[in-house]
Amino acid sequence: MSSRTPSTWTPHSWRDKPIQQVPAYPDSVALADAERQLATFPPLVFAGEARDLKAHLAEVARGNAFLLQGGDCAESFAEHGADHIRDFFRVFLQMAIVLTHGASKPVVKIGRIAGQFAKPRSADTETIDGVTLPSYRGDIVNDIDFTATARTPDPQRLLMAYRQSAATLNLLRAFASGGFADLARVHEWTMGFMKGSSAYPRFEQLATKIDDAIEFMRALGITPENTPSLRETRFYTSHEALLLGYEEALTRRDSITNDWYATSGHMLWIGDRTRQPEAGHVEYFAGIMNPIGIKCGPTLTADDLNRLLDILSPDNEPGRITLIARFGSDKVEDHLPRLIETVKRNGKIVVWCCDPMHGNTIKASTGYKTRPFDRVLSEVQSFFAVHRSLGTYAGGIHVEMTGDDVTECVGGVSAVTEGTLKDRYHTYCDPRLNASQSLELAFLVAEEIDAQKPARQRAAIGA
Ligand code: PEP
Ligand code: CO
Repeated sequence: MSSRTPSTWTPHSWRDKPIQQVPAYPDSVALADAERQLATFPPLVFAGEARDLKAHLAEVARGNAFLLQGGDCAESFAEHGADHIRDFFRVFLQMAIVLTHGASKPVVKIGRIAGQFAKPRSADTETIDGVTLPSYRGDIVNDIDFTATARTPDPQRLLMAYRQSAATLNLLRAFASGGFADLARVHEWTMGFMKGSSAYPRFEQLATKIDDAIEFMRALGITPENTPSLRETRFYTSHEALLLGYEEALTRRDSITNDWYATSGHMLWIGDRTRQPEAGHVEYFAGIMNPIGIKCGPTLTADDLNRLLDILSPDNEPGRITLIARFGSDKVEDHLPRLIETVKRNGKIVVWCCDPMHGNTIKASTGYKTRPFDRVLSEVQSFFAVHRSLGTYAGGIHVEMTGDDVTECVGGVSAVTEGTLKDRYHTYCDPRLNASQSLELAFLVAEEIDAQKPARQRAAIGA
């Protein structure tokens, strides 16, 4: 076993610790059966891929690359068509190319996809019209319909989530390497409904610049046909590792290094509700060698952050830890500087990533859970401003987004209002940025990245 894995650790040692957010399965025998079956299934990702991602994230930590992480708040069994995956991937590629151009640096691409099913909830139960039922915890646990049968946790859903993740990942791998991501096709990534948005002409302008560059390189003999990096992209998967029975069943020992890896996704993160240093989730994460994220909300103390970093990254390996800050647009200045200072003081190497979604959720007057787009933008701006003032590197963003033309977050170029939220409100959990809002955010982030470049570099690239 790796020297980095604690000697008392096993894939099931989390079971001896206190733990939060555990669904109440009525049939523990059926649960154990499903977990046993899952443990016989093939891994979804390989340890070598997780190691490659860690190396890319190490470059982000060093300030040489930028991280884009995004996808649905919760994947669902109902929304599993090829179109949904393709449209997500297309907008994600658009965002990535805007950021690559703005940063003049590689963009590390990680989807919240192919495993993002389990949801933490603030209450165990939900009451509607005097009827109280278990809360919906994501399609991997129970069904969103408000009936007693639908809300009962069903272990067979673990197997369904695994199979859906495998199919999604298969299509994503095909898109990433089968020609869809070819830079010669960048104009084709735009979807019809985006044409009315003000981000659209900016994107078309950028796409034309890229076409020109591709034509120029073609004249020199460098073509997408002979240069894989123009034709293909590396796309990684991630999810919140909340349901540890599922994760344990997919935790496998790498035959090359003998280390343990989670094989349910390349990167896993610990949610803001389950990051207690002595609890089960942190125990599980301590033994897997994947790159991992930690959500950092306003209640995270400097002491706890230090303990988490000691437990989860004892050898301070670059790329191992991504801190995903999610404070709320008006709280960034209260919390981010104190956490950056403590990380700096302790000489820890981390990627700093901004989740501008989870601290900015409000209830609209119409009852819908929404996020004002200007608060999302403002949290990103404050995140960059704090890093600029402290001389640290703002390394990435983590967003809830979809390629679909939904109306879930208010504001932005697509001008969703509280009144139009109901038109196409499809999320299974938190409100997502639609395609136009996602692209608009990418342009804003590109401007912020540009502002954090040293002046000499800006001059060199003619910005
Ligand atoms: C999420 O990412 O969907 C989530 C629940 O985030 P957090 O743990 O930051 O609240
Ligand atoms: Co969410």
